[in-house]
Amino acid sequence: MNPYRVLPIFTPEKVEEYRNRNFYELSPHIYALADEAYRSLRDQDKDQCILITGESGAGKTEASKLVMSYVAAVCGKGQEVNKVKEQLLQSNPVLEAFGNAKTVRNDNSSRFGKYMDIEFDFKGDPLGGVISNYLLEKSRVVKQPRGERNFHIFYQLLSGASDDTLKKLKLDRDFSKYNYLSLDSAVVNGLDDAANFRTVKNAMQIVGFMEDEVQSVLELVAAVLKLGDIEFKPESRCNGTDESRIKDKNDLKEMCELLGIEQSVLERAFSYRTVEARLEKVSTTLNVAQAYYARDALAKNLYSRLFSWLVTRINESIKAQTKARHKVMGVLDIYGFEIFEDGDNSFEQFIINYCNEKLQQIFIELTLREEQEEYVREGIEWTNIEYFNNAIICDLIENHQNGILAMLDEECLRPGTVTDETFLDKLNTICAEHQHFESRLSKNSKFLTDHSLPHNCFRIQHYAGKVLYRVEGFVDKNNDLLYRDLSQAMYKANHSLIKQLFPEGNPAKVNLKRPPTAGFQFRASVGTLMKNLQTKNPNYIRCIKPNDKKASHIFTDSLVCHQVRYLGLMENVRVRRAGYAFRQAYEPCLERYKMLCKRTWPHWRGPAREGVEVLMADLPVPAEEFSFGRSKIFIRNPRTLFFLEERRRQCLQDLATLIQKIYRGWKCRSHFLLLKKSQIVVAAWYRRYAQEKKYQKIKSATTVVQSYTRGWQARKLLRELKYQKRCEEAVTTISAFWHGTQARRELRTLKEEARRKHAVAVIWAYWQGLKVRREYRKFFRANAGKKIYDFTIQRIMQKYFLGLKSTMPSMSPIDKSWPARPYRFLDGVHRELPRIFHLWRCKKYRSQFTEEKKAVYEEKLEASEIFKDKKALYPSSVSQPFKGDYLEISKNPKYQKLNSAVDEKVLLADVVNKINRANGKGTARIFLLTKKSVVLADQKTGQVKASVPLPDLASVSVSTQSDGFFALRLKEGSASAVKGDFLLSSEHLIEIITKLHRTGATAADSEQLNVDISDEFLVQFKHDKVCVKFIQGAPKNGNSVSCKRKNNRLLEVSVPTTA
Ligand SMILES: Nc1ncnc2c1ncn2[C@@H]1O[C@H](COP(=O)(O)OP(=O)(O)OP(=O)(O)O)[C@@H](O)[C@H]1O
Ligand SMILES: [Mg+2]
Repeated sequence: MNPYRVLPIFTPEKVEEYRNRNFYELSPHIYALADEAYRSLRDQDKDQCILITGESGAGKTEASKLVMSYVAAVCGKGQEVNKVKEQLLQSNPVLEAFGNAKTVRNDNSSRFGKYMDIEFDFKGDPLGGVISNYLLEKSRVVKQPRGERNFHIFYQLLSGASDDTLKKLKLDRDFSKYNYLSLDSAVVNGLDDAANFRTVKNAMQIVGFMEDEVQSVLELVAAVLKLGDIEFKPESRCNGTDESRIKDKNDLKEMCELLGIEQSVLERAFSYRTVEARLEKVSTTLNVAQAYYARDALAKNLYSRLFSWLVTRINESIKAQTKARHKVMGVLDIYGFEIFEDGDNSFEQFIINYCNEKLQQIFIELTLREEQEEYVREGIEWTNIEYFNNAIICDLIENHQNGILAMLDEECLRPGTVTDETFLDKLNTICAEHQHFESRLSKNSKFLTDHSLPHNCFRIQHYAGKVLYRVEGFVDKNNDLLYRDLSQAMYKANHSLIKQLFPEGNPAKVNLKRPPTAGFQFRASVGTLMKNLQTKNPNYIRCIKPNDKKASHIFTDSLVCHQVRYLGLMENVRVRRAGYAFRQAYEPCLERYKMLCKRTWPHWRGPAREGVEVLMADLPVPAEEFSFGRSKIFIRNPRTLFFLEERRRQCLQDLATLIQKIYRGWKCRSHFLLLKKSQIVVAAWYRRYAQEKKYQKIKSATTVVQSYTRGWQARKLLRELKYQKRCEEAVTTISAFWHGTQARRELRTLKEEARRKHAVAVIWAYWQGLKVRREYRKFFRANAGKKIYDFTIQRIMQKYFLGLKSTMPSMSPIDKSWPARPYRFLDGVHRELPRIFHLWRCKKYRSQFTEEKKAVYEEKLEASEIFKDKKALYPSSVSQPFKGDYLEISKNPKYQKLNSAVDEKVLLADVVNKINRANGKGTARIFLLTKKSVVLADQKTGQVKASVPLPDLASVSVSTQSDGFFALRLKEGSASAVKGDFLLSSEHLIEIITKLHRTGATAADSEQLNVDISDEFLVQFKHDKVCVKFIQGAPKNGNSVSCKRKNNRLLEVSVPTTA
């Protein structure tokens, strides 16, 4: 029962009180039921569902939260588990903010259905959850009945958001600015929207929404508010049709900015509607009413899709992370049965009430019908209890052929004009006979007049009372039509969330099929839910509302009575009273309680039923407390069950004690044995250790004593040995001295004796000598003298030659050293031997020569024959090798021409100076010598100036001094002699002359070339003979030789004196 005030019965103490207690043990409480469900789930591995039903405002949502908080309090703890719990609990404020609203019945009425599966692991710790939502009452977004509000989030955002946030969302705090917010009940007593907004934001953060996701959600909420403020005005067109125009584009602009939509696109979507048939597209203008319809449809869709997205997003966060098998506890909190007294019930109420009918159906199925049928099936004696089965009402609504929802769908899909009235007509024709359906026409057809039933309404007699539905809007709401232009405009938005919400707006995925109707979708999802619930063990919380005033302390009997009755609680209680509180199949029952009887413990070999019978007979339970069915045992009172459970608990305790006792005994004994074993090991080790120590001690003591004894003995021995040694030494010394004395004495005697013998021998020798000399004096002089002399000389020579062998000079021909002679008489040998040796080593030296080297040395030899001791220049030339081709004429490209002009091999090529007769100065010329001729050529150009065949040469004149002047004298009368002789000077004079001399000698049939060496010679210049005179001059102008013309017939060459 809703107390409408906070009672102190939901405290942590109460949680502890109800924790792990039997269901009937304490007074009824939501915690008792939650505990029962949780324990069945944890201990018996049965999936559970908790169905919370009741009228709107009866306290279902509160009850569901209490169940969740209880489960959260009693299940396991830990960082991860606590996070999951917190996320599950915090999903409530978020969903309530977006899905709850103030209605006349309830200030926090759930305007959507919610079924939440909480998943647990085998220990009973929560792993996560899955939330399913059912049909949000989206019509509330655009219009609220009198005295009601829009969804909380709109008011919360405007009251609770900071100025900054509101500015960003382009919103104003003033509710009155927004058409979609009803003003008469904008502020609700006891509801702090601003504080709730903070709670919601905090909850979103805990659940795991990102900062930008929260912002996107708020932008959408703001966009819905802005959308409501867009207004249209009519504008007539020339063809007479009415068209709508947006009155003030400011709101549209702001909304477009918020959602990133191009203003013109949305504006067009509000003005035109494009209908796409299979092949063609037709665009029609919208009139004002249609534009408003389009705007509201967009607002409703935007909001309801946002809500579904929120649910999906929360599911993502609270999804169980493991794939391990889990148990499930479902909590169903769905909108409660709703009746507007003034007959203003619409499609939403119809849907809500249909859902409640289905839940009632499940309740009836599982408690009343199923239970009674079970008694009959099991053969238990039973008097049937009557109850109202609402299956007939469910059938009226959901029947696939002629149910109201099916007919509504049919109307919506039918071609031609379809209105709410045609739908009502259809109902009137098809459902007129149904006993739970009433309408003006059906009544009229039965000749009944009911003025409480307007023309455009029909009435259904629900299990919870009669509800009058106004057909207005049924078709539209069922169609739930959003013009494609609008969804396409939304898809074009530059806003990720909006794009996600309108996937059908994607031009690439145009689907011409009609989307399923709202009624169809709802029926299908309710069908799935029912199937799901039937697979689980149901637990019921039936909420009762004490009054219609939302006030505490008021108890309206009639209202409560009405609820109790239509909820079928009376029948339920009756069935429960007459029936049995508990039933269980024989096998699990025997398994659970077999420890209560010695005959069934630990194993019962026979059939389970007999085992249970034996068991029950053994227990002090009166026979009327239980009955044996065909497959189950039925226990009438909870008391008996508690008794069984209590006995079982005690037995389990005893068994546990027994197990503990044996285990402890075993543990202690094994511990003792281990200790004993360890003690033996420790003692053994210790003894060994102690003995070892003792042994070490004795050993070291023994060693000390031993060492002392040995030391003492050793010292004694040492002393003795030393004494012995000293004695021996003394003996040795004494004997040595004694022997020494003896030896010296003997030596003296021997020496004396030897001296005497020697003296005797000497004296005897002298005497003999004297005797012999006297005897042989006459023969000696004639023969012995010469022999002795020859022998001595021979010995000396031998010694000298042998000595020479080791003191021989080196093999170099220029080495002039020779070992000195020891005696003067060796002078001759001393002179001859070096000469022979030198000749021999020169021969050796020559024998290594190659042909070229030989030629070079021959030339050198010839030079020496010509110039040695004749010309002062010669000695300096000895060490200079004769190179011959100084100009490298064959290789040098400069002289290529000259080279080709000369036929034979060039023997010598050098630069010489040709002396001018006129001034004595020289001109550089190339001097070439071949086998046959001498060639003079220009040094620069290589042009041949003169070529003299060797036979034409008469002689060569040179001075005796160290100059390089030479004159080539030509044979008189020869062809070359016409031009006269040549006076030349060269640095390689010796080489040139030698080569000339040699070549002249080898040239065929020519005479030897004469070389005149004198300090004055004549040179024939053309016609005149000039005398060239060499004088010795003072060393001036460096060491250069100068040539001067003295007169017409004399050239004087001054050669500096060489030091
Ligand atoms: N156990 C309770 N203790 C105190 N107040 C309660 C309790 N249960 C419900 N109420 C009060 O009743 C109001 C309505 O409860 P609740 O929203 O749970 O109803 P509901 O059955 O879910 O209604 P609807 O079907 O409209 O969603 C709560 O806002 C709260 O003020
Ligand atoms: Mg609720």
